Amino acid sequence: MASSIPASQEASNARGLRDPYLWHKLHSLSGIVPIGIFLMQHLIANSYALRGPGAFETVVKVFGYLPFVAILEIIIIYIPILYHGIYGIFIAAHGSSNLGSYSYGRNWMYFLQRVSGVIAFFYIGFHVWNTSLQRYFLAWQGSPNPEKAIGWESMAGQFADPLFFAFYVIGITATVFHFANGIWNFGIRWGITISQRSQKISAFVCAGVFLIFTVIGLATANRFRSAGLNHERASISAPAVTAKVARR
Ligand code: HEM
Ligand code: HEM
Repeated sequence: MASSIPASQEASNARGLRDPYLWHKLHSLSGIVPIGIFLMQHLIANSYALRGPGAFETVVKVFGYLPFVAILEIIIIYIPILYHGIYGIFIAAHGSSNLGSYSYGRNWMYFLQRVSGVIAFFYIGFHVWNTSLQRYFLAWQGSPNPEKAIGWESMAGQFADPLFFAFYVIGITATVFHFANGIWNFGIRWGITISQRSQKISAFVCAGVFLIFTVIGLATANRFRSAGLNHERASISAPAVTAKVARR
């Protein structure tokens, strides 16, 4: 039967999601939404540690108490990160860049984008194993308090180890760099920053994103480290902090 769709369009429809171009676009988009949004939210939420043990544990409890939390985590965090990470490793190992024929500086940034992606892959893998997955394991084993796997004392104890701390400093810096430089690439790839001027402005904004979120992440890591070295315990309970905030 003759088709009413023009042959060229029919061919492109049939290619559909098998087209690597679409997978690459999806990879690019997923780096901003939802993963980039998650990264900013996550670093800000963890920075409550700078206000002390009670504030940090309150935030952990508030997020853990979200309805449908496990489903939300799978859809908004795990599937996008697995897709972006695995496809990203594939691109870093085989792919050719379509930004590659630019200046020396840009080529360097593109190289660093891939290297930081690989570091992020190992960092996030270890980090999730060490936090959320440990909490799930404790829950499966019937522990009355599985949150202790991600509580103040567990975090502080681990950050006191200089190797663990160094690994986090590298992991946080590389992941935030990857995100900030990724926003700059994203602007060009999606035709948002076309002129030289808009690319300059975008470079300033991305440098700002890098600085702000690296400082937030490293300050948090450092707070846990000093808590661990000083054996600071989570003596202030979460309800006590809520009451303190309510009195203000
Ligand atoms: C899990 C480990 C990760 C790996 C292996 C990885 C790998 C990559 C690679 C290779 C690229 C360059 C793609 C290309 O050549 O076009 C890229 C781009 C990008 N990544 Fe990642 N990434 C990872 C995690 C992340 C995270 C956690 C974020 C956000 C917080 C992120 C945000 C971005 C952004 C915004 C881009 C730019 C997209 C574009 O060029 O249009 N990535 N990633
Ligand atoms: C100082 C820095 C950081 C601290 C203190 C920290 C702390 C935590 C904690 C306590 C959890 C467990 C949350 C829960 O299960 O409810 C967690 C989970 C997670 N973190 Fe981080 N994190 C930091 C940096 C990062 C960075 C840079 C990334 C990169 C994207 C990241 C990605 C994740 C992911 C993907 C999860 C699993 C999400 C979930 O199960 O809800 N974290 N982190």
